[in-house]
Amino acid sequence: MSNFVTVILAAGKGTRMKSKLPKVLHKAAGKPMLQHVLDAANKGGAERNIVVVGFGGDVVREAMGDQAEFVVQTEQLGTGHAVKQAAPLLEGFDGTVMVLCGDTPLLTGDLLNKLYTEHKEAKAKATVLTAIMPDATGYGRIIRTEDGSVARIVEHKDATEEERKVNEVNSGIYCFEAKDMFEALEQVGCDNAQGEYYLPDVLEILRDKGEKIWAVAADDYESTLGINSRVQLSGAEAILRRRKNIELMDNGVTIMDPSTTYVDCDVEVGSDTVIYPMTWLEGKTVIGENCKIGPSCRFSDTVIGNNVTAHFAYGHECVVDDGVDFGPYVHLRPKTHIGNNVHIGNFVEVKNSNVGEGTKLPHLQYIGDSDVGKNVNCGCGTVTVNYDGKIKHRTIIGDNAFVGCNTSLVAPVTIGEGAYTGAGSVITKDVPAKTLAIGRAHQKNISGWHDKRD
Ligand code: UD1
Ligand code: MG
Repeated sequence: MSNFVTVILAAGKGTRMKSKLPKVLHKAAGKPMLQHVLDAANKGGAERNIVVVGFGGDVVREAMGDQAEFVVQTEQLGTGHAVKQAAPLLEGFDGTVMVLCGDTPLLTGDLLNKLYTEHKEAKAKATVLTAIMPDATGYGRIIRTEDGSVARIVEHKDATEEERKVNEVNSGIYCFEAKDMFEALEQVGCDNAQGEYYLPDVLEILRDKGEKIWAVAADDYESTLGINSRVQLSGAEAILRRRKNIELMDNGVTIMDPSTTYVDCDVEVGSDTVIYPMTWLEGKTVIGENCKIGPSCRFSDTVIGNNVTAHFAYGHECVVDDGVDFGPYVHLRPKTHIGNNVHIGNFVEVKNSNVGEGTKLPHLQYIGDSDVGKNVNCGCGTVTVNYDGKIKHRTIIGDNAFVGCNTSLVAPVTIGEGAYTGAGSVITKDVPAKTLAIGRAHQKNISGWHDKRD
């Protein structure tokens, strides 16, 4: 099956967002709206994506990188004018163009593929994706003839009272045969209520030429919703999150309270993992199988293995291997790698560190810029003193070492394999393997002190 090229309209200002950020870059479920559209297009079979930008074009281009080609529409003269801007990039292209809008984050690859497949099967020159809207106000209405075929699309502002009663609307998404579309666009005028070049006029022009135009109805209107305001954005967010939770549950993940579980679209979770309430899984986070996550965990761009237990914890840009348990009140910061079967207890922060298999960080610690070996025990209150006010230094703790409670490890410093530090030590020099280091004042007992005081 051949593929199609998309032209994604994203030049509008998005005035109602009241934002300095271009509308299509606002995020829904952790991803810019335009990214959702590109992802759906690619899943649906797009071989090439062209984005028409205007307001904030450079920012949009930068955010999307090489995922698409870009053309600029300097003046927003209407959707027909916008599509025309892609003509130079599609010179000589003889296939199907799918026109999309950059502000429809709920589209799915399946829906776009259905539109394209039915367009091809119908051998139509133009096919519009329609939806039945509970409230069609503002949308272009699909005007059908008595035999049920599409006659034309009339914009809300141009429609008669009778036409406004139609609740089948133009989703703003279409497939066109490229050559016929660009030819017809030459004939589109702007004699209408908004003084704009309307893309939907192409349908009537093609029909008048005797060409076949077709319509595909979306199964649910939600998928086609365009976002114009922050209120609508929050609606899209809720739908995306609901979909994601359902996808996870259908794939064997238990979500105790979907209404307080916020999972971004690209997150992966393995089967038999249980997600407890008030949990956020963001960005490119991957959670393995048979984990217990939450309550109250937030993980961003974090990779977690199998059989991990985490509660009341925050991790970002870090890796946690199998069998680790951590929390409550744990903060795993970027560039941290926690090895298999590590135990991390309450009030522990780990940053830019590697922690070896089987090591225990049970209570109240700061481990920063460190390489901690295997089966190390860091007593309560272990602190790596990693910063001298100018530079961060590393701490190295060898396998099987035992760091006594309230030890300050003043970096750069190395604790050898199997070495010990006495509780309350301030360690400023390297400790050789299997050695006990005590760096604290000797205790002095003054007898009779109580009586002498009085
Ligand atoms: C459009 C359709 C309407 C349909 C609705 C679906 C037209 C004339 N009408 O109306 O039938 O029901 O979408 O949401 O097409 N854009 C540009 N350049 C422009 C104008 C618009 O890039 O010069 C972009 C916008 O950024 C937006 C998309 O095209 O992403 C749609 O434009 P918008 O102004 O929202 O059209 P509607 O009035 O909603
Ligand atoms: Mg619109």
